[in-house]
Amino acid sequence: MTRFAGVVIALALASCGREAASDRKDRDDNGDAVADMVREQARFDAERRPEKVVAALRIGPGSKVADVGAGSGQLTIHLARAVKPNGRVVATDIDNSVLDLLHQRLDAAGLADLVERRVVEADTPSLEDGQYDAILLAEVDHFFKDEPAWLRTATKALKPGGRIVISNRVHHRANSMAAAAKAGLVLEEESSPVPTHFIASFVAGKATK
Ligand SMILES: C[S@@+](CC[C@H](N)C(=O)[O-])C[C@H]1O[C@@H](n2cnc3c(N)ncnc32)[C@H](O)[C@@H]1O
Repeated sequence: MTRFAGVVIALALASCGREAASDRKDRDDNGDAVADMVREQARFDAERRPEKVVAALRIGPGSKVADVGAGSGQLTIHLARAVKPNGRVVATDIDNSVLDLLHQRLDAAGLADLVERRVVEADTPSLEDGQYDAILLAEVDHFFKDEPAWLRTATKALKPGGRIVISNRVHHRANSMAAAAKAGLVLEEESSPVPTHFIASFVAGKATK
């Protein structure tokens, strides 16, 4: 049972007077956890402006998008909302434990069915060729050992006309831009809706060696 479902059921039991003390404690714990998650998400949304990231990805209902280095899913939840009801989000990370948190977040929002979790190796995107309308790298590309090589491989996963969006803290911008250029990506548009982060959207060009 999800935390959210637990809260709903506990509230229903409480309303008809059948709630045991232990159930009440579970409800309080679950309620606190859900309230914490809602507060944390609201803070993240104010700081990062995820709607601008979704706009840069140019995704909509039915799109297939990869969220690379998805972490606990604070952006993934917005991608899932954008592609529902029949789209797909592939959320990758090198750390399985954060993908469990991501699943809890998506499950509580009723969006888990739209999202596939995928544990990946650090050096490879692990995305199927020719399948993705967009690939998002948010606060992750600075971890890649050979970013141009990673981006070249990821470009093969795009559908024709698809895009790669890199968003990161502004002090990583120069490295990201250089890596993208080296991988043969062409800058489509760039914005900085919050002072701490840039959002750059790229399409495939001719790769260089
Ligand atoms: C700072 S968090 C960013 C989370 C989320 N994308 C965001 O913008 O809030 C970076 C995440 O990238 C993951 N990560 C690091 N290197 C990675 C790699 N090579 N491939 C996929 N994920 C990676 C980390 O485990 C971590 O969960």
